[in-house]
Amino acid sequence: MRKRLLIPGPTEVSAEILREQERFLIGHRTREFTELYAGIIEKLNRFFQLPNNYKATVTTSSGTLWFDIVGRSIVKEKALACTNGAFSERFGKAIQACGRKVGFLEVEWGKAIKPDMVSKKLGSEEYDTLILCHNETSTGVRNPIYEIGKMMKKDYPDVIVAIDSISGMVGDKILPSEIGCDVIFASTQKCFALPPGLAVGIVSDRALERAKRVTSQGLYTSLVRILDYYERKHQTPFTPNISLLYALDKRMDLLLEETPEGVYKRHKAMAEYTRKWAKKHFALLPEPGYESVTVTCIKNTLGKSVKELNERLAERHFMISNGYGRLAEQTFRIGHMGEWDLEGVKEILWHIDEIWGLREK
Ligand SMILES: Cc1ncc(COP(=O)(O)O)c(C=O)c1O
Repeated sequence: MRKRLLIPGPTEVSAEILREQERFLIGHRTREFTELYAGIIEKLNRFFQLPNNYKATVTTSSGTLWFDIVGRSIVKEKALACTNGAFSERFGKAIQACGRKVGFLEVEWGKAIKPDMVSKKLGSEEYDTLILCHNETSTGVRNPIYEIGKMMKKDYPDVIVAIDSISGMVGDKILPSEIGCDVIFASTQKCFALPPGLAVGIVSDRALERAKRVTSQGLYTSLVRILDYYERKHQTPFTPNISLLYALDKRMDLLLEETPEGVYKRHKAMAEYTRKWAKKHFALLPEPGYESVTVTCIKNTLGKSVKELNERLAERHFMISNGYGRLAEQTFRIGHMGEWDLEGVKEILWHIDEIWGLREK
């Protein structure tokens, strides 16, 4: 049964985009592929307003590959991992699994990571990389990456900054050079509104220089290999998911047509409407002022059954998300990202109001 997905990924993908994948395949070492892929990179450069010292790239993988890319290609000896939810914790553990040392700055779930917390922790020990999660999907917290980036530039200019913006990038405003980050990445099944299977990474020249000095990068996780191959051939080092690249190419055209500012405004409008609704009936999990613009995490203060709600919503061809892991039933999440707009959000909230009897009589 078809359900319209208001979960924080995978999200809805229009038939127009899905159909792009029906095109006949081309060889990945041909001129046609080079044109397709270089075209996508150029569109990513434009959308994220990348200056020459930043490189965009696409990997055939889910976003998690980039945890390993950071762990294998970027962290030299020791990273500081800032955690305030399930995904940021996973990022830190992934770096450890790559054999690098990790110190943790653990912040309560639902609270944001602030520049002064990071600064204090970085000052206590020697770290070569800072890793954080921009949009903590498990709690709906949006960490202040622009402010953290500013502090890093001033106080720790030699520390490389790697950011998971898997569920934020595109929907939220991401200008890597303004943030001052060195690596930032996302999966396509979130705000790019494509099927899962690709990840987009943006890397600074500084990060590439670091990668050149890091040993045991692995093969698929070698940032040097990925970027060097593009530099020399405008192709990917290994066979990519060509069908999904067709879809990404089309998506980038649509995003550029809407403009980065337009896309952000649409997401902000959806988030603000959802938050207002949530505060009227429930409460928000994130600390005020640090709420995500792509996923709203709501405290289930009325003790309703989220599982039952989703069963009822399924009959109406909709799906939202329960709370993540241990937050299940205590919270629920609405993913308003990708192709969704305010009308769609109003529609889902109308259904929830009706099913849970929240509408004013
Ligand atoms: C913040 C964050 N990080 C990492 C991941 C894992 O991404 P993927 O499933 O694309 O590997 C997710 C997925 O929901 C996420 O939201």
